[in-house]
Amino acid sequence: MKLALIADLHLDINKEYPVREILAAILKEKEADGLIVAGDISEDSGMTMREAEKLEREADCPVWYVPGNHDMWSTDFARRSTDQIYADYAADPRCLVDKRVDLHGDNGPVCLVGDIGWYDYSFASNLYSADELEQMSHGGRTWQDKLKNQWTADNRGRMQLMVDKLEKKLRSCGERPVIAVTHMLPVDDFCVPEEREGWDYFNAFLGGSSLGRLYERFHVTHAVCGHVHFRKKVRRHGITYHCPCLGYHTEWERFSHHGDDAAWQIGETLQWIEV
Ligand SMILES: [Fe+2]
Repeated sequence: MKLALIADLHLDINKEYPVREILAAILKEKEADGLIVAGDISEDSGMTMREAEKLEREADCPVWYVPGNHDMWSTDFARRSTDQIYADYAADPRCLVDKRVDLHGDNGPVCLVGDIGWYDYSFASNLYSADELEQMSHGGRTWQDKLKNQWTADNRGRMQLMVDKLEKKLRSCGERPVIAVTHMLPVDDFCVPEEREGWDYFNAFLGGSSLGRLYERFHVTHAVCGHVHFRKKVRRHGITYHCPCLGYHTEWERFSHHGDDAAWQIGETLQWIEV
């Protein structure tokens, strides 16, 4: 079974480029058996769900996704609370929140589980106190979740809830190999180098090591994440960690001189696994 991995499509920010159409064509051409999207499809939950459905139809293969922090944003909590948005995702058949997908791999059954994950500040430099990190603001910059996500009132509590939910799902997989998907980073290998201004602070909001430690206790073979807009893959303790982020078109230039050649960028971003 051939599965494609990608994250951070940001279809609204990248709207000048036919990202969904190009992605669907590649999946068809390569005869993918499914696509896993590790969050940040758009900044509107309705759009994210609609685009996932369209992508599945156009690519003619199943699409599974977890929401990213952008997919969870609300600019009016009275109208759309963070918990309501999360509940809407849980009800979407393509979203991995509150579900386990049982796949028929080439060598036997494989489980697919996932959720957003969250952050617990464990990736920040220890130069900063918990109180400073709770501000989610540093050097005149504010992490946007602070303004657009109500969970930021208790980030570490939310991370613990996510770890507990994922643990339950992982336990239900028994001895089967597992593909685990979060938007947030489970390992610090994908953090932004601390030399880049402000990131010794803002790495706090990229994920947490409790996710990676959780995976090591179960039969996770592949872990997929996004969020940090890198395109990387590392192997740690028998688990292959994938970070396949398309990112914003304004960032594409830094990946290569191909710049705004969307087809090249999408092809280069996709990672593939055989299960
Ligand atoms: Fe993103």
